[in-house]
Amino acid sequence: DTGLPLDMIIFGGMGDLAMRKLLPALYMAYLHGNLPPSTRILSTGRQEFDRSAYLAHVQEHSRSFIAESNFNEQTWNGFLNLLVYVRLDVQQAADFNTLAEASRGGAQRVFYLSTAPSLFITICDKLSEAGLVDRNARVVLEKPLGRDLPSAIDINEAVGRHFAESQIYRIDHYLGKETVQNLMVLRFGNSILEPLWRAPNISSVQITVAEEVGVGSRAGFYDSTGAMRDMVQNHLLQLLCIVAMEPPTSLTPDAVRDEKLKVIRSLRRFRLADIARDTVRGQYGHGVSGNQEVPGYLEESNVPPDSKTETFVALRAHVDTWRWSKVPFYLRTGKRMARRSSKIVVEFANPPFPLFPETPGGVANRLVIELQPEEAIKLQVMAKQPGTGMKMQQVELNLDLQSAFQQRRAEAYERLLIDVVRGRLTHFMRRDELEAAWEWADPIINGWGTLDEKPHSYAAGSWGPAEAFALLARDGFSWIE
Ligand code: BG6
Repeated sequence: DTGLPLDMIIFGGMGDLAMRKLLPALYMAYLHGNLPPSTRILSTGRQEFDRSAYLAHVQEHSRSFIAESNFNEQTWNGFLNLLVYVRLDVQQAADFNTLAEASRGGAQRVFYLSTAPSLFITICDKLSEAGLVDRNARVVLEKPLGRDLPSAIDINEAVGRHFAESQIYRIDHYLGKETVQNLMVLRFGNSILEPLWRAPNISSVQITVAEEVGVGSRAGFYDSTGAMRDMVQNHLLQLLCIVAMEPPTSLTPDAVRDEKLKVIRSLRRFRLADIARDTVRGQYGHGVSGNQEVPGYLEESNVPPDSKTETFVALRAHVDTWRWSKVPFYLRTGKRMARRSSKIVVEFANPPFPLFPETPGGVANRLVIELQPEEAIKLQVMAKQPGTGMKMQQVELNLDLQSAFQQRRAEAYERLLIDVVRGRLTHFMRRDELEAAWEWADPIINGWGTLDEKPHSYAAGSWGPAEAFALLARDGFSWIE
């Protein structure tokens, strides 16, 4: 704690993320006394707004994202008192002088960049010219950080001209999720798993992040992005890293990030033949989701009718290390899938000798880590069916984390924003980590461009295209719902 007053300055302050996630998260941090005294939140936007019009906008667009059980009128009004609206066009240097006047001299400044990444460079340059960047300043960069390696490097170079790496917080909100952080504890706070946590004891790993929602009103952004850039390059890779990393020597930011970087660097590169064989792109068609008929992706507003953008990806990755030799990592994510469900399934090798011939094959042991919406850790084991024979059946040891802990669970953004305020970098991505992730993803995205195939269609409300099932069936595995 620097003891300095805090000015949190949000670029894209009128945007969707600010309204849905950032302001509610800051409210929660305020409610629990986790913001330094004399904090102010400066939201910037291009519109002309006087203070009361801005506050009315927040009331209308942000207030409903705070759970009723956490809402308190008096606290909310206290929170609104922290908010300041600054009209600013990021292209106008003069507007940054206005911002400099609005920000208190001597305050510790956190700049939250929640705009299109194409604006990050100009924002950082102009902040610096206006004298707003000092050694106490921090900058938070929202994903996507560029759209490929060259653009990510450009951003990192430009931001790096004004901020030291220790001042840069590249956010991936999956790293702020309680269950994702718990995965580190599961792996490294226990000793029973570690000896088993490798080839050949583990035969495969599945990581699924399924969403029920469609593209919604974000087509403008999404259609030029696609699921690979939106989800796989960041969220799914981060989950893969935590599953696959070696134990770090401490929880310091670099100790953890060094280990994650090693994992990303050891991901096997995809050549064109691998892309054709080991990746599946899908795009949702018309279907039924949550008992409602929903349009297909191509019928969504602002999506070009011939779009080839993928809303679903499944792929088979390999971490080429001693620990993970020959263990496939299956990743899968999609919009408009049967339901919202994120989970990691670690499948263990079958017993080497079939002692119980009465029971036909089948997988003996799986560790299932459910991330959302339920938070649970399940271990599937074989048990004897009661009776005179020696028949086995799969049963489940089930740890329901929601009932194991009664405490409130903070949202990812709340936890990560508090980390930024306290200067804790462990759950943020380092420059080399981010660039290594693009180095792995780029050839896949470019390969799809070269192959120029239409993504496979899947019905909204399903578990994705048939090809995604074939990808695993080929190796003798199947997706666990
Ligand atoms: C965001 C993506 O990063 O993550 C969205 O841009 C996606 O497309 C969201 O919906 C999913 O986050 P969560 O926390 O709802 O799993």
